[in-house]
Amino acid sequence: MIKLGVNIDHVATLRQVRRVDYPDPLEAAIAAEKAGADAITLHLREDRRHIVDRDLFRIASAVKVPINQELAPTEEMVELALRVRPDEVCIVPERREELTTEGGLDVAGMAGRLGPMVARLRQARVGVSLFVEPDQKQLAAARDVGANHVELHTGTYAHLADRDLAAPARRRSLELGEEARAELQRIRDAVKAARALGLKVNAGHGLNYVNVGPIASIAGLQWLHIGHAIVARAVMVGMARAVREMKTLIAAVADAAAFRGKRKT
Ligand code: PXP
Repeated sequence: MIKLGVNIDHVATLRQVRRVDYPDPLEAAIAAEKAGADAITLHLREDRRHIVDRDLFRIASAVKVPINQELAPTEEMVELALRVRPDEVCIVPERREELTTEGGLDVAGMAGRLGPMVARLRQARVGVSLFVEPDQKQLAAARDVGANHVELHTGTYAHLADRDLAAPARRRSLELGEEARAELQRIRDAVKAARALGLKVNAGHGLNYVNVGPIASIAGLQWLHIGHAIVARAVMVGMARAVREMKTLIAAVADAAAFRGKRKT
C-alpha cells in the first residue's frame, strides 16, 4: 500500500499568524503518528513563515515514524539537515513570494549545484528526494545527480481534477476531463520511467479528499505527502468539540459566579 507522509506545516502557519505558542506542530505530529501517519513531513522555509528551527529539532527527536524534511537547495538548509539527520530530505524550489511550492526543481539546469549537496546528504545516510515535474528529462537528471527518490509534483493534476470534480455528480463517479486525464497519464508514465532508472517514486502537492483516488491507484508509487487538505479537514472535524469545550468552560465560570452570589445573600 502507498504510504502517507503527513505534512504539518500549516499547523505552524496558524500559530505564526498570531505569534503565540499554539497550536503546536509537535502535538499535531504526535497525533498524526498515533492515527497511522507513516511519516511526518515538514518544510523549514528560509523565511520561517511556519515551521521554525525549534520545531524541526523537537519533532525530529520526538516522533518515531520517519521524518521527511523539505528544504530549499541552499547551504544553510543542507547544514541544518545534516544536524537534524532526518530519514529523508526532499529538495524543493523555493521563492519568497510564493504561497506554496510552485513547480518542480529544474534539476537538469542546476545539476552542478545539486550534485555536491546530494552527495553530502547521502554520505550522512540521509535519503535524498528531488521534487520534480513528471518530466523524463528531470527524472534522468535526478538520477545523474545521485538522488535515490523523486517526488512527482501533482499540483497541475490536482488543480485540473478539482475543477472537473467540483460538480457532485462528476465527483461521485470520479469523472475527470480530458486535460486532467492527460496529466494523470503523464504522472503514470513518469512513475514507470523513474522506476526504470532505479529511483523510488513519491508524489505530492495539492492532493485532497476529492482528487487523491486516481493518484493513490498508480502502481509503483511509494509515498504520498499531503498537508494542506489534512490540516484543513482536521480543523473542520475538530470544530464541534472545540466549541463544546469552550461553552462548557464559560458555563462553569458562570455557574461558579452564581453560586458565590447566592452564598453572599
Ligand atoms: N510535497 C512537497 C514537495 C511540498 O512542497 C508540499 C507543500 O509543502 C507538499 C508535498 C504538500 O502539499 P499540500 O500542502 O498541497 O498537500
